[in-house]
Amino acid sequence: MSDTGLFITLEGGDGSGKTTQAELLGEWLAGEGRTVVRTREPGGTDVGVEVREIVLHHRGDIAPRAEALLYAADRAHHIATVVRPALARGEVVLQDRFIDSSVAYQGAGRVLDADEVRSLSEWATEGLVPDLTVLLDLDAAAARGRLDEARTRYDRLEAEASEFHDRVRAAYLELAAAEPGRFLVVDAAQPVDVIALAIRERVAAVLGAR
Ligand code: TYD
Repeated sequence: MSDTGLFITLEGGDGSGKTTQAELLGEWLAGEGRTVVRTREPGGTDVGVEVREIVLHHRGDIAPRAEALLYAADRAHHIATVVRPALARGEVVLQDRFIDSSVAYQGAGRVLDADEVRSLSEWATEGLVPDLTVLLDLDAAAARGRLDEARTRYDRLEAEASEFHDRVRAAYLELAAAEPGRFLVVDAAQPVDVIALAIRERVAAVLGAR
């Protein structure tokens, strides 16, 4: 759990609409008088921007374990220098992707051992766990359709085959089923405002429970 602030993470496949929902939720929380820090992994710090460039745009292969370590390195610096300080100030941190991304993409996607991938990030973050994780669930074909409309070129992960993205989706759903108290799973094929409302209701409940 976070210290005094609220730590909310958004997860889902590429093209599931996390960024749009983070924007809407951030606006709503600000309207409720909360101080909101919107951030993301990889790339939420100056060091992270450099790591992001490597993991997403390096030409040529990166060994799966090296990829996992790069994401964990980005995370370690980001949590220590941005997220924990904001939580200690009592702010709401709204973060695009966190450990569950590594378990889903490097674990199920790259087929590394999921527990090892998780342990690596737990070490990197000194065991920080989100108060709430919103999973925007969308089947890989629908997500690909959205990306095709939005992108002129794909990054290294987006360019992976559909089987990779199917494994990522299945892993996310397993993670959510294992921790229903932490996760909210939303059908990301629904209209944007329907999704936003479902997320708001859950966040309001979490805030109300404090
Ligand atoms: P990003 O542009 O942030 O993707 P999106 O807009 O879809 O959220 O790129 C992040 C990519 O990195 C995405 O394909 C998922 C991948 N990723 C991992 O493989 N492992 C991780 O731990 C994280 C944080 C991201």
